[in-house]
Amino acid sequence: MKFNIKTDNLLEEKSDLAIILSVKGAELPEKLSERFLADDFSGKAKQTLLLYGHGTVSPARVLLVGLGEGSKVDTDTFRNAAALGIKEALRLKGALVSFTTIGETGVDEQARSQAIAEGATLGSYRFLDYKTDLEDDATFEVKEVQIFSQDVGKAEKGVAEGLAVMAGVILARNLVNKPAAEVTPTRIGEEALALGKRHGIKATVLGLKELQEQGFGGIIAVGKASANEPRFIILEYGEPSEEAPTIALIGKGISFDSGGLDIKPAGNMAAMKCDMSGSATVLGTMEAVARLKLPIHLVGLIASAENMPGSNATRPGDIVKSLSGKTIEILNTDAEGRVILADAIHYAHRYNPDAIIDFATLTGAILIALGNHATGLFSTDQALADKIKTAGEKSAERVWEFPLWPEYREMVKSDIADVKNSTGRPAGSITSAAFLAAFAGDYPFAHLDIAATAWAETPIKAYHYKGATGVGVRMMVEFLKGYK
Ligand code: BES
Ligand code: MN
Ligand code: ZN
Repeated sequence: MKFNIKTDNLLEEKSDLAIILSVKGAELPEKLSERFLADDFSGKAKQTLLLYGHGTVSPARVLLVGLGEGSKVDTDTFRNAAALGIKEALRLKGALVSFTTIGETGVDEQARSQAIAEGATLGSYRFLDYKTDLEDDATFEVKEVQIFSQDVGKAEKGVAEGLAVMAGVILARNLVNKPAAEVTPTRIGEEALALGKRHGIKATVLGLKELQEQGFGGIIAVGKASANEPRFIILEYGEPSEEAPTIALIGKGISFDSGGLDIKPAGNMAAMKCDMSGSATVLGTMEAVARLKLPIHLVGLIASAENMPGSNATRPGDIVKSLSGKTIEILNTDAEGRVILADAIHYAHRYNPDAIIDFATLTGAILIALGNHATGLFSTDQALADKIKTAGEKSAERVWEFPLWPEYREMVKSDIADVKNSTGRPAGSITSAAFLAAFAGDYPFAHLDIAATAWAETPIKAYHYKGATGVGVRMMVEFLKGYK
């Protein structure tokens, strides 16, 4: 799908589907408004109306999409509306599609074009790798998208940025959507090496032997019973400098979470191929950052293992020595994410980072707290948390902050080891974050629990499909762009 910016009058340009994003109450060209009854389209949010050209206008079809009240329109309104529009274009098999906006909003040209490019790209995303008997309905693709704008420079900049970010989001979605038999820790390592090669980013993958030699006790304990060996992955974009911040970005890469000996019930286990979503967010963010050439030093760290039962699996009651030297009492083998992340968070110290941030599908409890509508945020540093919240609002990948009071951090102390990996049901998401914080030292630390936002069972945005969302990439790019 290629994008072009146009300045002409949309109704005089040929296209298969001209999509008009219209603010509520905005005045439409008479050529259009005379073709329908006023009550049929007012521009209220998500309303659509399909009109046919009949020779009076150049496009074969025109789709009106309502944006709602102009004062309430933000970039996500455009992202959703563009996705709605592109889905209609796919249904109608329109290869050439155009977008224009009518009415006043507070969104500037660059942000508007970026949001339209993002909505059109994500709205036409499909994951068909494993389908063998596809009908051409499913494989039809929009060839060209034209965006009408009076400011070509800004619009082009917006589209270019949007497409860079989308490359990251789609990389993340594809990895998460693939089955766990394919996306093993080895494969995640290979993806990182390929990404490094594509963009000239330093990439290193540590195998089992190196993990043993260097003392990655957490990752080894979790990955022990799987035939697919664990990996630790290091990506380094940019370099340390006075001007640019160093951010360590960590991802949970559990390629499959069976629960281990504390095995999960059958009903939900298939969904656990999504347990490497945090690692996908790290790779996707790296992809976007490299394309955008952001002036930062970004270290991506991925702890990857497959959590399986077996005769040599870690048992409930075992004690493991993590990379930091701290001992962890394993009370529940299904609380494995925090155990591998402990090693990664400690490893990040060697970069003396300005912030350590991790993305992890860490707890089922976060779904109970927030539903699918926000990612859980837990931080030891208020300034860092505030930056993340701002980025969340800007990117429409919302986060909601929970407390990390000392009382919670007390809860993770073990009777016979330094910390324990499970504290029972009360405050389950917070205590998992408190466990991670025990490995962050004095570095500003933030944990993002994406267990409820990485996977959409029923899509809540027009630009989501059932499956992986690629959550976190848009938010992290916003965060890194705005970091001071
Ligand atoms: N990977 C799961 C969390 C999860 C749940 C991710 C649902 C995506 C969707 C995690 O490893 C886990 O099993 N957490 C346990 C922790 C408990 C044993 C302390 C949980 O949430 O039940
Ligand atoms: Mn688990
Ligand atoms: Zn897990």
